[in-house]
Amino acid sequence: MQKINLHISFLEYDSINDLTYDDRDLLLNAKEAVETAYAPYSQYHVGAAVVLSNGAVLRGSNQENAAYPSGLCAERVAVFAASAGHPDIPVKAIAITARAKHFTINTPVTPCGACRQVLAEYEKLHNHPIRIIMMGETGKILISESIGDLLPNMFSADELKK
Ligand code: THU
Repeated sequence: MQKINLHISFLEYDSINDLTYDDRDLLLNAKEAVETAYAPYSQYHVGAAVVLSNGAVLRGSNQENAAYPSGLCAERVAVFAASAGHPDIPVKAIAITARAKHFTINTPVTPCGACRQVLAEYEKLHNHPIRIIMMGETGKILISESIGDLLPNMFSADELKK
């Protein structure tokens, strides 16, 4: 038996003003996308914005449904729109943020497991790391430079070819 230690890392920023122009711009797009969320059931409004390597920006927000599992997270709405509209263009980065009706979100909003898996698919497909920029309404900003830091030991298409 041996114990395997994985190394994952994140960048943490105190303020949106400390981000690069590109990261800040994408996060501001995500903040605007929050306003388009349809979240009458959770009242947790999430916004995401994806930038592609050709500079195109696609936004998404969570879309809920009376049949709860039929809804979709903001990240997948954004990244699926990106892939449907620009199937051959790598995803460079995604910014994620949220606003809740009954409390203030002051820690970074991190993608759910299913969204991590979907981001991993596109990172592998285009062989291009996806930068993930995460923030609450207030507080610190967390940046992951690749989905591997959010989804270690991921399942990918490679496993289907062995
Ligand atoms: N949600 C997202 O859109 N993204 C996340 O990263 C976490 C959760 C949505 C799903 C649901 O509409 C609401 O937030 C509460 O879970």
